[in-house]
Amino acid sequence: MKILVTGGTGYIGSHTVVELQQNGYEVVIIDNLSNSYIEVVDNIEKITGIRPGFHKIDLTEKEKTSDFFRKNKDIAGVIHFAALKAVGESVEKPLEYYHNNISSLINLLQGMKENNINNIVFSSSCTVYGQPDELPVTEKAPIKKALSPYGNTKQISEQIIENTSSVSNIRGILLRYFNPIGAHKTAIIGELPIGVPNNLVPFITQTAIGIREQLGVFGDDYTTPDGTAIRDYIHVVDLAKAHVVAIDRMIKNKCKKKVEIFNLGTGDGFSVLEVIKSFEKVSGVKLNYRIVERRAGDIEKVWANTTFANEELGWKAEKNIDDMMLSAWNWENALKDKR
Ligand code: UD1
Repeated sequence: MKILVTGGTGYIGSHTVVELQQNGYEVVIIDNLSNSYIEVVDNIEKITGIRPGFHKIDLTEKEKTSDFFRKNKDIAGVIHFAALKAVGESVEKPLEYYHNNISSLINLLQGMKENNINNIVFSSSCTVYGQPDELPVTEKAPIKKALSPYGNTKQISEQIIENTSSVSNIRGILLRYFNPIGAHKTAIIGELPIGVPNNLVPFITQTAIGIREQLGVFGDDYTTPDGTAIRDYIHVVDLAKAHVVAIDRMIKNKCKKKVEIFNLGTGDGFSVLEVIKSFEKVSGVKLNYRIVERRAGDIEKVWANTTFANEELGWKAEKNIDDMMLSAWNWENALKDKR
């Protein structure tokens, strides 16, 4: 069975390609390489022994996208990762974010419809919940007004898939990720942030290895036990495995609704200081950090209620925070050797 993975050379995409191949799927990747490297295709092959198909296509280009689908009518399902994802940048460049994330999805769905390809798994985010009124947050929690154009593209994309499915054969599974971190155990693939990382874990590992001077912890006056913000961190390989389960579910016609929504997290919340402590424990490195101002747009705390994903998908995150931090550290060290 052939699966199209858009954004398949990216961080979560590459880990998902590996899991799909290791579960017997044939994978073809579409990526425009705007935030990833072609070498990732070689690295996937190093891990699995199988080279995925690769097409350098920008999904905002309608003709090229529909041409791809015309030539690949045998695709059984699509996993759509390809999107811009930097929250701060989206505030600076809203049109770029709306254009890229929305037109890509529209072109993709049109290509799918025209060729009778009906299964799509979509990369969404817990950002759609904003600061939830109740924790842990369930899939039934209300969608709050988005705090950034990036977050808004996730909300709009979910709606586009819902609306399209109600008038076509398209079925969707929307996966709302909490905070994916860590890397593959081989340290052959992982997160490759270009420039200064926005996210916590790459900033920690880059500081520890000497690329960054100091980590700024954004605020210690939140109403949390240690005052720092709380997130639900999930190992990227656990997350990748959930995509295989979702694709299986669609292909085997096990979906109970045209569009299903699942939270993907561990169900546990960790504060920024707890993440740092875990890192120091597994790496043996003392991290240089200090408390700085809160970051605009950050929410205080969020973690997932994972009951629905656990029971309905039959999937559960297995790795704990120490596993996640150790794999992130091993990856940073592997990168050092490549730099
Ligand atoms: C954000 C988005 C999420 C998006 C993800 C992708 C929101 C609410 N969340 O997650 O939707 O999918 O980025 O990039 O918009 N921190 C520090 N110092 C740092 C960096 C981070 O203290 O240098 C703290 C943050 O304040 C936060 C935690 O670490 O409490 C995690 O931050 P980050 O990794 O950037 O992820 P989110 O902001 O949770």
